[in-house]
Amino acid sequence: MTAESLSKAQSLTVFQSAYQQITAAAKTVGEKIFEEWRVYEKLLIHDYMDHKLFFARLLQEITHRFQRPIRILDLGCGDLTPMLPLLQALPLSRYVGIDESEGALVIAAELLAALNLPGELINGDLVQELETLTETFDLVVASFSLHHLVDPAEKLRCLQAIKSHLVDDGMFAMIDVYCAEQEPRSDYLERWIAHADKRYEALQTEEKQLLFDHVRARDYPLSEVHWQSLAEQAGLPHCEVIIRDHVPLNGLTIFSTT
Ligand SMILES: C[S@@+](CC[C@H](N)C(=O)[O-])C[C@H]1O[C@@H](n2cnc3c(N)ncnc32)[C@H](O)[C@@H]1O
Repeated sequence: MTAESLSKAQSLTVFQSAYQQITAAAKTVGEKIFEEWRVYEKLLIHDYMDHKLFFARLLQEITHRFQRPIRILDLGCGDLTPMLPLLQALPLSRYVGIDESEGALVIAAELLAALNLPGELINGDLVQELETLTETFDLVVASFSLHHLVDPAEKLRCLQAIKSHLVDDGMFAMIDVYCAEQEPRSDYLERWIAHADKRYEALQTEEKQLLFDHVRARDYPLSEVHWQSLAEQAGLPHCEVIIRDHVPLNGLTIFSTT
């Protein structure tokens, strides 16, 4: 595939066919999936977090912006399942994924190998690893990972480090959950859990419990406006939520200097 702009229908077709290949590859590594990933894998298989919608839109943005093979840095890459169709669809010159979960990276490495894709995977804290990396990238992606950074100051530090790794016309794409403006974290958690309890039908009661405990302990989302303010402070003045789900909970934001 070339870097010509893709229509929405074309990018969805690319994703559907790539997802079939990935599902086949994931079956081989599925035996090794740890408990913590088993529930998350179910969310991916049923596309409960609308990864397909967001990654298809991201593919459009990328092909519109870049007419060259691109270097991608993926923060909190997980087991790579939602990212692989993008990697397969693009002319890619480098891919680096960072994640703190060793188990997720075992699966990621096997999926990369099964699909014959080159890539480097780094096991570590994404902010610390970002600050030690020395290379630049055309695209930095963080899909459902930055809401795990507890403190807004840590999120700002992360945005500053991202900016320092972007080429002049580069972009940062963040797919993530957002709270509403001024919404207390406790209200957000209640709203998230009520939504997931209704929508995530394929999960067993104990799987839901595991997921909700994880979300209560680890999720610290910001509002869109708060992210915009941090982005400005980090030197990424162009910051736009380009697509949201219907709830709304999740969205894709593009940050750039130009
Ligand atoms: C919800 S999963 C998202 C995985 C994948 N990007 C996706 O969209 O499916 C969040 C991922 O971020 C990773 N993560 C969270 N905080 C991290 C940190 N501080 N450093 C590195 N990885 C982190 C987790 O291990 C997990 O793989």
